[in-house]
This record gives sequence, structure tokens and C-alpha cells, in this order.
Amino acid sequence: MTQPRPIPIVACLAGDGIGPEVMAEAGRVIQAVSSLMGAPVRQVHLPFGGDAIDKHQHPFPPHVRAAVKASDAVLLGAVGGPRWDSAPRRPESGLLELRKELDTFANLRPVRHDGIDLMVVRELTGGLYFGEKMLTDSSAFDTCSYSREQIERVAQWAFRLARRRSGRVVSVDKANVLATSKLWRQVVTDLHAAEAPELQLTHELVDSFAMNLATRPGAYDVILTENLFGDILSDLAAAMGGGLGLAPSASIGLDGPGIFEPVHGSAPDIAGQGEANPVAMIRSVAMMFTYGLGRRDVGRAITAAVDEVLAEGLSTADQVHGGRAYATWEVGQAVCDALGHHATGSAEFADHPFGRVMARG
Ligand code: IPM
Ligand code: MN
Repeated sequence: MTQPRPIPIVACLAGDGIGPEVMAEAGRVIQAVSSLMGAPVRQVHLPFGGDAIDKHQHPFPPHVRAAVKASDAVLLGAVGGPRWDSAPRRPESGLLELRKELDTFANLRPVRHDGIDLMVVRELTGGLYFGEKMLTDSSAFDTCSYSREQIERVAQWAFRLARRRSGRVVSVDKANVLATSKLWRQVVTDLHAAEAPELQLTHELVDSFAMNLATRPGAYDVILTENLFGDILSDLAAAMGGGLGLAPSASIGLDGPGIFEPVHGSAPDIAGQGEANPVAMIRSVAMMFTYGLGRRDVGRAITAAVDEVLAEGLSTADQVHGGRAYATWEVGQAVCDALGHHATGSAEFADHPFGRVMARG
């Protein structure tokens, strides 16, 4: 698709566990910005993950695949749960197929809370997740491979974000052991020299980096790393910054729709009780407007509204220490109410690479 649609289509994949509950609040916030800020969006709801296995015997059925490819952005709740542990296909495999299908190689996972301000840039469509695999009763293997091009394109995202932030990037690898990490370090070093010498680049080994991040999270800004390290380190980073209830993500490719989803999982233990924290999902909606739909003003307004609500201490149980724990819908409603204080009258459009641009006017 080359021409932006006047009203962008967002494929909403609520998924499993708390996914539908937090997706409902995302929908409310989208409605609110639609009327307050002139940012209308068409939401198309589709089954995904375990829910789609139940309905269509596949976590990412063909009709969902077609709808997602025709959309302008994908909003995702969460997938997985114990119910599908012994299913022939796991819900998570649908998520991996979705990422691969849209080639969303750059996974941006910001953490901003109480003086901590991190941006994990995780490579998302390579490495151990997607290499050749084998499993029998007596042996198994997973293959990790990376090409120069795969490393370059995600490193470019880290550099691009660092320019808008503090200018510092740490690249995390295991170059003392892994061949893929040796290549990773070389490619990032070369690209830095060629395209971003003004940025301050450092390299750290993943084990000691994990320790440093846990003890001195304030020392870092942009963290660039490969798929599996990024999976682990982004949970750690989220834990350092208020917990998974607050952490959003954006997964972006060269073109085509991006995927916007909370870092947290389906939390089956609290599903259906109205106590899940919708903030990670709502912040993912903000990232969708900024990076996926080119409406930075809307992304900024949603972010400010969330910050206001958090500052008031109006939070779900995971964030409350002492005071009353609010329900999922109450936090969502509070964000919608706060949007009135932050909605600006004039639309501000971002240009590529910050996503596609919504039709102007
Ligand atoms: C994440 C999740 C996924 C991943 C799982 C559900 C496949 O943990 O988005 O971080 O490992 O990438
Ligand atoms: Mn994870």
C-alpha cells in the first residue's frame, strides 16, 4: 500500500488471558482520541493465538493473515496459556509467524519510570527463534544465525533513536563465545564508524550487562541486542522500571504495518477478573500512533495522559502500595478523561521512518 488511507485500519488481535481486557481499554482510548484529536481509526477485531486455535484450529488462520496484511497497524493483546500447553501448535507460534510475515525486525521496548529512561532495541525476526530446529526424545538443537544485513538494519534503528535521545548506545552480545556475536559486534562497529560516528557506542557482554542493568539502570539509554538476549533483557529492564504492567512495545519493519503490543504475557492467573493493568497496552497504542500511523501528536497526548494518571496514584493492584487498587476499566477511563488535558488542536504528522503517515486534513 503506498497511499495512506483517510481512515487507517487497525487489526486488533486481543488474543488470550488478559488480552481481551486490556484491548477493550485500548479501544476506548482510540475512540477518545478519534473525537478529541481528529484521529479516526477503523478497528477490525480478529481471533489470534489460543483463541484462534479454539475457533479455527490455527493460532494465525489464513483470514487473519490476510486482514493483517491489508491493515495499517496491528494491535496485539497477549497470547498463550496453560490450556494450550499440550496442543499440537502453541499460541506463541502464531505470534512468531505474525512477526515473520510482516518482517517486523526492529522491536522497540521503552522503559520510563521513576528516573529510569531506557529504550531496548531488540532484533525480532532472526537468531535462535527462527533458525533450523530439531527435537527428538534424546536430542535437540536450535540454530542461531545472523547476516550482516539483518544486524545493520536493526542497528540503524538503535542509532536513529539514540540521535533523538542522549546519543548513547550500548550493544549487548556474547562475543567471547558466540560466532554470531562476533559478527554482531563487528557489524555494529563498522556501521557506527560509517553512519553514526557522532554517537557514543559501547559494547558489553550479556552476562555482566544483566548485572550492571540490575544494579545501575540509570547508566544506560539505548540498548541494542539480538532476539533472545533482547527477550530476556527487556523483561529485566521492565522490572527495573515499574514492572511489566507498564511496558509497551513497537515492532517495525521497512514498510507495511507494525505490531504494537505490551511486553507482558497473557497472565492467566488474573485473567477475567478486571484487575489487569491496561497501561502497557495503552502505551502501545501511543506507540502505534507515533511509529505506525505517523501521528506523533496523538502518541504524545496519550503518553502524557497515562503519566498524569500514574502520577495521581490511580493504578491497578500491581502498582499500588497501600492505597486502593483500581480496576482495569477505571484506569482506562481515567486515561480517557485525562486526554482532555493533553489533546492539542493541531495535528502533527511524522515522516518516515517514524511510520506511515495518516492522510493529512
Ligand atoms: C515477548 C514474548 C514472546 C517472545 C513469546 C510469547 C513468543 O515473550 O514478546 O517477549 O519470546 O518474543
Ligand atoms: Mn518476552
